[in-house]
Amino acid sequence: TILVLDFGSQYTHLITRRLRELNVYSELLPCTQKLSELSWKPTGIILSGGPYSVYAADAPHVDPAVFELDVPILGICYGLQEIAWHHGKNVAAGDKREYGRAALKLEKHAATSAHVSQLFADLPQDMEVWMSHGDKLSKLPDNFVTIATTSNSSFAGIAHTEKEYFGIQFHPEVTHTPMGTRVIKNFAVNVCKARQDWTMTSFVDQEIARIRSLVGPKGQVIGAVSGGVDSTVAAKLMKEAIGDRFHAVLVDNGVLRKGEAAQVHATLTKGLGIQLHVIDAADRFLDLLKGVADPEKKRKIIGNTFIDCFEERALAIAKEAENTLNAGPIEFFLQGTLYPDVIESISFKGPSQTIKTHHNVGGLPERMSLKLIEPLRELFKDEVRVLGTSLGIPEDLVWRHPFPGPGIAIRIIGEVTREKVRIAQEADEIFIAEIRAAGLYRQISQAFAAVMEGRAVGVVGDQRLHGYIIALRAVQTTDFMTARAFRFDMEWLERVVERIGNEVEGVARVVYEVTSKPPATIEFE
Ligand code: XMP
Repeated sequence: TILVLDFGSQYTHLITRRLRELNVYSELLPCTQKLSELSWKPTGIILSGGPYSVYAADAPHVDPAVFELDVPILGICYGLQEIAWHHGKNVAAGDKREYGRAALKLEKHAATSAHVSQLFADLPQDMEVWMSHGDKLSKLPDNFVTIATTSNSSFAGIAHTEKEYFGIQFHPEVTHTPMGTRVIKNFAVNVCKARQDWTMTSFVDQEIARIRSLVGPKGQVIGAVSGGVDSTVAAKLMKEAIGDRFHAVLVDNGVLRKGEAAQVHATLTKGLGIQLHVIDAADRFLDLLKGVADPEKKRKIIGNTFIDCFEERALAIAKEAENTLNAGPIEFFLQGTLYPDVIESISFKGPSQTIKTHHNVGGLPERMSLKLIEPLRELFKDEVRVLGTSLGIPEDLVWRHPFPGPGIAIRIIGEVTREKVRIAQEADEIFIAEIRAAGLYRQISQAFAAVMEGRAVGVVGDQRLHGYIIALRAVQTTDFMTARAFRFDMEWLERVVERIGNEVEGVARVVYEVTSKPPATIEFE
């Protein structure tokens, strides 16, 4: 096991991700972790980057025991400075911040101990790396040699001449350092001799064991599922870990996709053996949304009503389960949070303060005094898909486009009415079915039909129709922060538009929306 100690860099989780890609098991812990509290001995330690200066009065430092353990250590960025700080405090504020690409030059070390050259073994003499730091080394600590330089730092890479300690100023974990994974592999596999036998299956076993010990033999967990891949994978893990002491709840808010509640129910209960409580609250939501046109108000109503419905049912489920299962109270709330949802990495303040409350369940765990349980919080979306597949979750679900918590309500501009919901659902169903039939579903990141405000004139048969305007939207994106409209074939689009016009009552026009994000967002509100 490689121990990654986190100083709060925005890239820290990428270190663990790269290690996973190398099939090396790692554990990520706050930088202040006391080694005496660990029940295992790491085979190597990586000190991450961080936003601090080692000289700041409140700068975090590792447990000094780290340097007494006699295992290899790699310090990245702040981690390098931390190593230097422990070996004579030769760090200075950089005269200029270095941010972005830099050309790294490797130094040759034929004469010094063999391990010194191991970090950069089999790498080109010159390579591109990514820098992001203010402070830098002003002087080599005693017993260290320089193993790499850039034009701005004479100590872009250092190594201890006797111990297997390395420091690098650049970030090998980001994709902007093209050979970075090789550096991490050299350290983990060649220097630390870490085993490369970690797989998603071992992740499942570890996570199940962790959930079991966290929840205890009688504890119960409740969670909201949406039918999306994240909440389904999280629910399946929970089910595997604690069986019927996990309760999944789906709130049908009336603005889901067409037939979605029934479909999710079938997949979870029949397909995955997860007991699902569906709360049919469509009327309650739609009545509350009546006459409300402001997007923020719509979101608030949906969010608050969701919490009310969930809480009411959760209390009933808890009472019943305590009797029938002879179990303890419900103490945990399951959330399918992924790493990109985690605003900051686990900082040295500890994990509890730094988690973003998921926008769909905002305030719910606090209101019900439930502790969060987040089995996916170190994973990226593509890893969750691999995990979902290995857990037997159907392909269709694993590759499902994301669907926002406020649902179709933010795809209906202005007031949400039952008629507009029906039109959006029916048009969406046709659009998605055609996208699937054309084999384009996976190339597109997200696609849907929205209902515009106002009406337009059309003709149906001999009749003049004052009908709704549908906008179709399909985007490609890797991170949902920026996106671009998908370029459909015009004839294909015309056929889809024709189908919607013929099959969805009340539609006068269909437009295809091509604005990029930015300036637009993916959803309409
Ligand atoms: P925007 O519209 O902000 O959407 O470009 C980016 C991604 O986020 C989803 N989205 C939401 N998801 N609750 C959610 O769970 C929300 O309130 C929400 N708003 C937007 C959107 O579907 C897209 O994938």
